[in-house]
Amino acid sequence: MKTIAIIGGSYGIGNAIAKEMSQSNQVITMCRSNLDKLDNHQHYQNDVLADQLPEIESLNGLVYCPGSINLKPFKRFKLDDFKSDFEINVLGAVKVIQHYLRALANGNGSVVMFSTVASQMGMPFHASIASSKSAVEGLAKSLAAEFANQIRFNVVAPTVTDTPLAQKLLKNDKQKELMKERHPLKHYLQPEKVSKLVTYLLSDDASAISGQVFTIDAGLVTIKT
Ligand SMILES: NC(=O)c1ccc[n+]([C@@H]2O[C@H](COP(=O)([O-])OP(=O)(O)OC[C@H]3O[C@@H](n4cnc5c(N)ncnc54)[C@H](OP(=O)(O)O)[C@@H]3O)[C@@H](O)[C@H]2O)c1
Repeated sequence: MKTIAIIGGSYGIGNAIAKEMSQSNQVITMCRSNLDKLDNHQHYQNDVLADQLPEIESLNGLVYCPGSINLKPFKRFKLDDFKSDFEINVLGAVKVIQHYLRALANGNGSVVMFSTVASQMGMPFHASIASSKSAVEGLAKSLAAEFANQIRFNVVAPTVTDTPLAQKLLKNDKQKELMKERHPLKHYLQPEKVSKLVTYLLSDDASAISGQVFTIDAGLVTIKT
C-alpha cells in the first residue's frame, strides 16, 4: 500500500483524487476545512501557508492542489494580486516539497502539481495566474532534474474543471453551455477526469515519466476545428 499526501482534499480535484486513491492506498489529506473520513485516510486541518506541516516518515506520492483563478484586465491588477497568486500556487508548493523531501526520497516519491491551459496559450486577463502557473511548470522541471534518481515531478494543466474554484465561470446553465461550446471536444472537465491522470502519474506505471506537463484541455489550446 502506498502512502499519498494530498494538500487539499476537501473538495474539487483533490477530493476526487483522495476518493480514488483511498480505495487502495493510505491517503493523508491536509487543508483548512474538515472532510468526511474515507477508507485508509488521515486528515490534518491546516493552512498550508500559515501552519506547520505534520511530520511523515515516508511518502510515495504528494499532490499539491491549492490554486487560484484571479482574472482581470492587466491594468486593474495590483502587485499584491500577483504576490498572493504566487504565494498560494508556487510558494505553498515549495514549502511542502521542501518539508517532505526526505520522506519523498525515502518513498521513491512522485509529486504532482497543477498548472493551467493559460500557461500554454495566451489568454486575456490571465496575466497573474499564467505567471504563477508557468513558475510551477519551471519548478517541476527543475526539481525533476535535481532529484532525478529519487523523486519524480510532473504537472497537470487542466482546462476549466467543475469545482468550487471555477464556479464563477460556470454560474448558470447558459454559461455552462457556452463553456462546452468553446471547447473543440464540446465539454469542460469533471474533477474525476483529472484525478485519473494524477493517479496514473502517482503509480509505478508512470515510473519513466518525470519533468512533464500534461495538458487536459478538451482541445481548447491544442486543436482548431
Ligand atoms: N478548476 C479549474 O477550472 C482549474 C483549471 C486549471 C487549473 N486548475 C488548478 O487545479 C488545482 C486544483 O483546482 P480545484 O479546482 O480542485 O481547486 P479548489 O476547488 O479551489 O480546491 C482546492 C483545494 O485546496 C485546498 N486549499 C486551498 N487553499 C489552501 C490552503 N491555504 N491551505 C491548505 N489547503 C488549501 C482547499 O481546501 P480548503 O479550502 O478546505 O483549505 C481545496 O481542498 C489548482 O491548483 C488550480 O489552480 C483548476
